[in-house]
Amino acid sequence: MSEIVYLNGEFMPLEDARIPVLDRGFIFGDGIYEVIPVYSGHPFRLPEHLARFERSHQAIRIANPMSDAEWTRLVRELIARNAGDDQSIYLQVTRGVARRDHAFPKDVKPTVFGMSNLLSTPAREVVDGGVHAITAIDYRWLKCDVKSTSLLGNCLLRQAAADADAIEVVMFRDGFLTEGSSSNVFVVKNGVVLATPKNNLVLPGITYDVVVELARANGLPIEVRPITEAEVRSADEIWVTSSTKEVLAVTSLDEKAVGSGKPGAVFGRMYKLYQDFKSTVMRQAA
Ligand code: PDD
Repeated sequence: MSEIVYLNGEFMPLEDARIPVLDRGFIFGDGIYEVIPVYSGHPFRLPEHLARFERSHQAIRIANPMSDAEWTRLVRELIARNAGDDQSIYLQVTRGVARRDHAFPKDVKPTVFGMSNLLSTPAREVVDGGVHAITAIDYRWLKCDVKSTSLLGNCLLRQAAADADAIEVVMFRDGFLTEGSSSNVFVVKNGVVLATPKNNLVLPGITYDVVVELARANGLPIEVRPITEAEVRSADEIWVTSSTKEVLAVTSLDEKAVGSGKPGAVFGRMYKLYQDFKSTVMRQAA
């Protein structure tokens, strides 16, 4: 089954999808996106993803071209037309096609694109063994809360991690933890889960919300507050979370063991809570 994508009102094979070179997404990275995990054919936390997508539209001043009901129909159609029980649905909107000028063009129609990728949740060995991360100064812009397709900073930082055989980069700005290149970061110290506050320096992750909710609902001590670089470097556990990584334990940071060097007990608890929650939600959707 060839991959079917959606572009400006039509479904087509991926290889047939074309955009004009003057699309502002191509020229300026002038667009926004969402990545929605799909388990057993059911999108996970879709209303929350669509609410964040709406906030991204508002932040970059593009009128959302579709209602939530229309986005939901599109997501379901992409799932149905593509292979795999577990998928990740990618949605992107750009400001549209216009002669190159930084200021917004008048009367252009946004470009709307959607595709599906197979979602492979982290393998058991990765969950049980943990992952490596490096650290870096967060030199991205000051609107990291917008899920923008302008991702050059994130790509450069992620490549630095890849060059070091690490899965992610844990970033600091002015001595405080921000996030990863494509994930949020949690820390555990003395049994307390520490989460970064939601502000303009981090993407408000949908997985982050699930983890915070699960900690609170299950009596895991959690504090949402600024986390210093020193706290990260002396943490008992570090986790990264995202729609495609779910929750993973970072077991070495800059080649130094985190805690015991193995995924910690609190991670084990959260990983199970997350998987149980996913199963419950999917059972209810079925
Ligand atoms: N990235 N922070 C950044 C910078 C991200 O790009 C992402 C997600 C997250 C986690 O958000 P969520 O839990 O909603 O996936 C945090 C997606 C998966 C991506 O760009 O592919």
